Amino acid sequence: MEQSHQALSSKSEAFIEKENKYGAHNYHPLPVVLEKGEGVYVWDVNGKKYFDFLSAYSAVNQGHCHPKIVDAMVKQAQTLTLTSRAFYNDQLGPYEEFVTKYFGFDKVLPMNTGAEAVETALKLCRKWAYEVKGIPENQAQIIVCENNFHGRTTTIISFSNDENARKSFGPFTAGFIKIPYDDIEALENALKSSKNIAGFLVEPIQGEAGVYVPADGYLAKAKSLCEQYNALFIADEVQTGIARTGKLLAVHHENVQPDILILGKAISGGVYPVSAVLANDAIMNVIKPGQHGSTFGGNPVAGAVAIAALEVVRDENLAENAAHLGVVLRTGLNEIASRNSLITLVRGKGLLNAIVIDCDENSDLAWDICMKFSEYGLLAKPTHGNKIRLAPPLVITQTQIHECLAIIERALNDFR
Ligand SMILES: Cc1ncc(COP(=O)(O)O)c(C=O)c1O
Repeated sequence: MEQSHQALSSKSEAFIEKENKYGAHNYHPLPVVLEKGEGVYVWDVNGKKYFDFLSAYSAVNQGHCHPKIVDAMVKQAQTLTLTSRAFYNDQLGPYEEFVTKYFGFDKVLPMNTGAEAVETALKLCRKWAYEVKGIPENQAQIIVCENNFHGRTTTIISFSNDENARKSFGPFTAGFIKIPYDDIEALENALKSSKNIAGFLVEPIQGEAGVYVPADGYLAKAKSLCEQYNALFIADEVQTGIARTGKLLAVHHENVQPDILILGKAISGGVYPVSAVLANDAIMNVIKPGQHGSTFGGNPVAGAVAIAALEVVRDENLAENAAHLGVVLRTGLNEIASRNSLITLVRGKGLLNAIVIDCDENSDLAWDICMKFSEYGLLAKPTHGNKIRLAPPLVITQTQIHECLAIIERALNDFR
């Protein structure tokens, strides 16, 4: 038994060593090497089964390897994969019609990754500001929030306040005003501060910052202030979108329709890189041929996959499941917190949740707890030091949530 355990772990080590030797060290993964996924489960190369409580940062909302989404991908991949946008293809138009009707916008601009979609939204907002609002060229300002996470490109990190993400990557892109998150007064002051405000870019819940949920009413008030000052309300729903928080979009909790909506991750169920920027004609029509694009954006596989992934969300009632099981999960976590003081706070919406661990941000404790979770069969990862995000695929059942709560409590009890 001991011998086979040794052999199994050396198998994982060999894969980890290869990544360390041949790959850039731009991530710090948990030492688990995965080879298979199905629904809420993943298996490592030693055959050990885990609950996935990260869901690839909320990309795998529909569960791993959802057969309907994988079938759509395989079928399309065997027929036509890429035309570029130099020609039309028979998948893009139907996908564009489907996705715009699904989210209630006139038009979509298809891209591949979340960061690309954020960049696209920023360019769209600036162009609208110059050509429709009438801001003098090169003077547009976009308001963003402190502790934001919108991706890793040079422009996006220009308005991050995570020093680790920024250090030695300058010079940065100008034209952004940073205000505290969840602070309506700060937003109004910023909107008032200049005639050159083009828009306000916001995450409806700050995921990477540790699942920071703003006060009720914040998003609705922010949207109406943007209307008042003729600035675009841009919602980055790359992480919160597509049923994760218990509604199709997190802004729907406050009946807000953004001027520009940014989607990524779960729009493909984690099967293929797909992202999208949605807006109405008055905004989207400022983009003309040659002004923005991507070789892979809007390719036939992406279109087929995204339709299938969005149908799964609708047909399997994933938003309702996330809303209901989110309450079950947070109730269970709060009960654990009442017995184990290691959890100082439980927060979240739907199945986007976090626990805050009783230690400072530089401590290794949250990491050690995640290692213990993994030993007991659940994968989660700390974010910003002392917070652990708990975000399983939305196909999870109530029985499985209870199993996971038992794992979480057992692991925490090993520490206190
Ligand atoms: C809110 C938000 N925006 C944008 C991104 C960037 O997406 P991608 O990693 O696909 O570029 C992320 C990724 O975590 C995100 O959470």
